Amino acid sequence: MASRRPINDLDMARWKEYDEILTDSLWLLGKRDNHGAHKPDYWGNFAPQIPYQAMRRFTRQGELVIDPFAGLGTTLIEARRLGRHALGIELNPTVAEAARERIEAQENPFAVQTALLQGDSACSETAERVRCQMEAWGYEQAHLLILHPPYHDIIRFSDDPRDLSNAPSLKAFLAQFEQVVRRFAPLLEAGRFLTLVIGDKYAGGEWLPLGFYTMETVRQQGFRLKSICVKDFHETRGKRGQRSLWRYRALKGNFYVFGHEYVMFFEKRATAASLSR
Ligand SMILES: C[S@@+](CC[C@H](N)C(=O)[O-])C[C@H]1O[C@@H](n2cnc3c(N)ncnc32)[C@H](O)[C@@H]1O
Repeated sequence: MASRRPINDLDMARWKEYDEILTDSLWLLGKRDNHGAHKPDYWGNFAPQIPYQAMRRFTRQGELVIDPFAGLGTTLIEARRLGRHALGIELNPTVAEAARERIEAQENPFAVQTALLQGDSACSETAERVRCQMEAWGYEQAHLLILHPPYHDIIRFSDDPRDLSNAPSLKAFLAQFEQVVRRFAPLLEAGRFLTLVIGDKYAGGEWLPLGFYTMETVRQQGFRLKSICVKDFHETRGKRGQRSLWRYRALKGNFYVFGHEYVMFFEKRATAASLSR
């Protein structure tokens, strides 16, 4: 066993009291949580309930969470609310700056550390900066990774060629995603969890299962798959009001309109080094 310490603060003597913690793989989250500094105004941000569930299940208070695709900082805002330290990385400088402001607007009742670094998560120099920040906070390793990459080119987040949403092909997207996993996996303690949030895409009349492709990438990087949760899809602003158009297209084109995305959970396998510790 890699880690015998509990990986959450749930008291199993009181397990019947945790109604708020999901244990089924079908996540019908309904309305987005808009409390505190959370706002639904960034295309492609996820519901705060996702990092909430991941942190409650797979971290303890005072532990460290890393989000290499931080966007407007949903994970970091939620980390402040839950008393977890958090480090986010975001490529787009404007988004990174806006995220910092938003995170600072969130109360910090547990006095945790949060930092949003601007950089390319696929690059070794960024991983080194993350490592330095961790060291400054007194951490050798993190306790949870949350990855919410672009769903390839479904939403273009910038013009930067290093942005995964600008990958010229599916193959290139998966190669960049693999780089990010390779950079960040070593920063996670063995026996701890990686959460991957992703949806599929449709192109050229074909359903492209980005979820399953990226799942396989993570598995190949020393993780075992623990769960695939299917979450009801938060309607994007673009699709709002176009429901009947999409229904028409689906009927005509012999496909189904996306109503879900995946929240997958992986456990980092113990390495020979961590076993001997
Ligand atoms: C799906 S969004 C994440 C949204 C985030 N979970 C939130 O709630 O705001 C993906 C983010 O990854 C960023 N991104 C794309 N390529 C990146 C890279 N190579 N390194 C770091 N961030 C990247 C995009 O700018 C975008 O903000």
